[in-house]
Order: sequence, then structure tokens, then C-alpha cells
Amino acid sequence: MSDTHLGLTHWNNYIDGEWVDSDQLIEVENPATGEVVGTIAEATPEQVDLAVTAARRSHTARSLTSITPYERMQMLHRVAAEIRALAEQGGELLCLENGKPLSQAQWEFEEAARYFEYYAGMADKIEGKSIPLGDGLVDFTVYEPFGVSAQIIPWNFPVSLVARSLAPALAAGNAVVIKSPELTPLAVALLAQAMHKANVPAGVVNIICGYGHTTGAALVCHSGIDQIVFTGSVPTGQAILRAATEHVVPSVMELGGKSAGIVFADADLDQVLSSAEVGNLYNSGQVCSAMSRLIVHEDIKQELTQKLIACFGAKVIGAGIDESDVTPILTANQLAKIDAMCEHAVNQGGQCLLGGKSLDRAGYFMPPTIIEAAHDSDIAQQEVFGPVLVLMSFTTEQQAYDLANGTEFGLVAGVFTQNINLALRASNALVAGQVFVNEWFAGGISTPFGGVGKSGFGREKGQEALYNYVRTKNIAIRLKP
Ligand code: NAI
Ligand code: MG
Repeated sequence: MSDTHLGLTHWNNYIDGEWVDSDQLIEVENPATGEVVGTIAEATPEQVDLAVTAARRSHTARSLTSITPYERMQMLHRVAAEIRALAEQGGELLCLENGKPLSQAQWEFEEAARYFEYYAGMADKIEGKSIPLGDGLVDFTVYEPFGVSAQIIPWNFPVSLVARSLAPALAAGNAVVIKSPELTPLAVALLAQAMHKANVPAGVVNIICGYGHTTGAALVCHSGIDQIVFTGSVPTGQAILRAATEHVVPSVMELGGKSAGIVFADADLDQVLSSAEVGNLYNSGQVCSAMSRLIVHEDIKQELTQKLIACFGAKVIGAGIDESDVTPILTANQLAKIDAMCEHAVNQGGQCLLGGKSLDRAGYFMPPTIIEAAHDSDIAQQEVFGPVLVLMSFTTEQQAYDLANGTEFGLVAGVFTQNINLALRASNALVAGQVFVNEWFAGGISTPFGGVGKSGFGREKGQEALYNYVRTKNIAIRLKP
């Protein structure tokens, strides 16, 4: 952080342990009001190079690999404590720039701290194998960090998602360059303070901001990076993958979804309702693993639809600072896109049962929306990233699986039934990285998460994620007889 600009707080990039300004700045808007809440320095291509060079230098100097795993663990615990200490200030900042409820914004800092604690506990448990080759040879594997990890972060959970990738990367001993989301960079800039106060060695963590097609592209195209971690949209993921081929850089891709819940005829409808509420409306649907489709057995469709309309229709729409149920969509563009998708759904024969049009008031508000639509319509196939639930119905079990699996995505899926055999059959049949039974968003930091198909590849969270940040080396030793 530095000074103020036009009476607003102005934030800088964090490169090689120092705060660095630039000539260009990015204005950050509050989606509940449209007002500018702060500014941040836009990192130039030269500054991207400085950040990558600093990370490379710190890695080559073995800043994190010459200390013991125990010391790395202690460093991560110090970061966790510093992040937790920022929760109040940071939560307010995140609430203003992102629009989400204040309590959820503060929770992101708590969750970020827990990511650091979880991976702190793994720093001294990255163990290789010994492989028997017979007399005269000793063979074993070691896990080594990649080196410089480039991480591109989206705006929907910026603080939590930084921690999700940064904590395991550091636990494994990598140096990191983070490109924060240009739409919500301020709370992430605050995280740099936590790194600094926790005495993370200079150059090990660099946090820069800038637009995707300039700063982001300069980072992923840089010849000095060893790995890319990306969360965001499919087209951007594809562009980054093309860049990654140039220097043959491995990547983790966490892209979008069109996740479906299947509701069998024996489901507990209250469980379905509470899951749909959180699954579809949390963060106003701006969640990659949102429940965006419900595939309901014909016998209970009418009853469930009535309940859903009553529940979603009663939600309070307003600013996050007021702890409203449904908070704004991040930008005017995103809101216009959601509006257009809903209108197009009706033109394609869909029936809008609730909402369907943005609110005519200051800020960018979309009411909870329920649309009954055909499986092959665009609203049932494309990611909306808003509070829009698509309803469909089925009669046979196989039909339900075909509908659920019938998109190009496969991030998460859900099944609602009282029958354990059916629940397990469905869990096996659903093509997704994670399946919820009678729930949505169950699990957390310790449960692996990631996609199938265009939802991406690689797994974040849990012990599995650590292996995104290391590569295996095999060492074979011939002994003297
Ligand atoms: P985006 O995928 O364009 O942006 C995500 C991040 O990638 C941002 O930090 C951006 O600056 C960066 N980026 C963009 N182009 C880049 C490039 N060529 N090279 C390197 N970095 C680049 O997503 P956007 O435009 O913010 O949102 C559009 C849609 O994407 C949403 O409506 C939603 O459907 C989806 N999305 C999905 C997310 C998820 O969690 N899976 C998160 C954010 C968006
Ligand atoms: Mg974009």
C-alpha cells in the first residue's frame, strides 16, 4: 500500500519485497453503487519481468529450499497469523470491491489463514519412495519444487483463491508470482503485507496487478516461469494453455462449470431446497462450482418448483455491507451478459418462472432467477455466473445421468435421494471431479477439487493439491560390492 490518489487509497505492486508504483493505474469499482473505491498500479511488462526475475533469483538462492521443512512450516504459520489479523480491514475492502456480504468477505481471510495452516502441516510430509532394484543398487524418489510458479487469480473469491494455490506452492518450496484480478485487486494487495510482516524472504512471493491481455499475458508468456496455475473462464484458460506450449510449461486449469443436481422422487425436498439456496445463490451465483441446473424427477417436479419459487422469491437483494441475501453482480458488463442470456433463453422456448431481468436501480443487481429450459438450449449448456437456476425433468434414471453429463463441463455434481444404493450408483455415473449427496459445497480445504472436460484438469485443495507444485526426481545409486 502507499498513498492516496484523488482522495482514494492507492495500492502498489509487491515485487522483490518492495512496493512498486507505476505510471498507469486501474480504478476499482464498488458493484453495489458504481463508485470508485480505490486505485492500484498497473504492472508494466518490465515489472512483470522484474517479478519473475526476483522469484527466479530467490529460488536459485534456495531461499525456501535450504531451510528445513520445519522452518518452512513455521513461515506458513506466521503468514496464517498475519492474514487472520487482517480479516477485519481486509474483509471491508473485499466487501466494497467485490460486493459480497461483509461476513463472507471476512470469512475469505479466515479461510485463507486456514489454507496456510493446512499446508504448513504438510511442509514436512512431502515424502518420496524407495524402490527395490536388487542387490547393489539403492533407488529412491524425491519431490522437488518446480521453481517459479505463475498464478492467475479471478475476482469471485480473490483472497481465498490466492491462498489455495500460494500456500501449497510455498509448502513445497516454490517462489511465486501472482497476477491479481484487475476487477478486485485491493484485498489481494493487502495480502502482500501479510507476507512482508511474516518475514517471507524477498522475491519468494510477488503480487502484481494488471489486465489479463497485457500483464497476465506477459506473465504466462515469460520464459522464466516453470509452472502456471489458472482459475477462470474457458477461453482464457485456452489462451493460457497456448502460451504454455511455447515454453512447454505444465499447468493446472480450474475453469468453469454447468453443474447439475439430480433430484430423485424419494428426495427430502427440504434438503434439496437448502442445497439449491446455497448452491445457486451463494456469491450471487458467481461461483465456478455453483449448482446451475436441477434435474428433477417428473413426479415431484411441481411440488419442488413451487417451493423453489417461494424460497428464491423471498430473498433480500442488496449491498454486501448490509448482509443482503443476494448481492450485486461484479460489473455492468457481466450483468448485461446475464440479462441477454435470460432473454435468449425465453426466445429459445424456455419458461421464466422467477426473476429473469436485472433490477432498474443503482449498482448491478440480478434477482434470483428460475428458468425451465430444454437440455439443448444455451441457458442449459453455458455458464451464466449469476443467480440463475435451470430446471429440467426426467423419468428414467439413465435419462437423469445423460442430462447431467450432457454438457462440455464436469466440475461438481449432486444427487438427492434417501436410497444409498441409488446415491452410490449416481455418484459413479456422474462425470465430475466431485459429487455431493444430499448437500452442496460440502467439504473444504482438505477435499480435492477440480474438473473433467472443459472444467479443466489438476486438483486443488487437500493433500492431492500439493503434488501440483512438485516434480518427481528418481535417484539411482550403484553401491560397491
Ligand atoms: P477471465 O478468465 O478472463 O479472467 C480471470 C483471470 O485471468 C483474471 O485475472 C484476468 O486478468 C486473467 N486473464 C485474462 N486474460 C488473460 C490472458 N490472456 N493471459 C493471462 N491472464 C489472463 O474471466 P472474466 O473475464 O473475469 O469473467 C468472464 C467469465 O469467466 C465469467 O462470466 C465466468 O463465466 C467465468 N469465470 C469463471 C471463474 C471460475 O471460478 N471458474 C472465475 C472468473 C470467471
Ligand atoms: Mg475476460
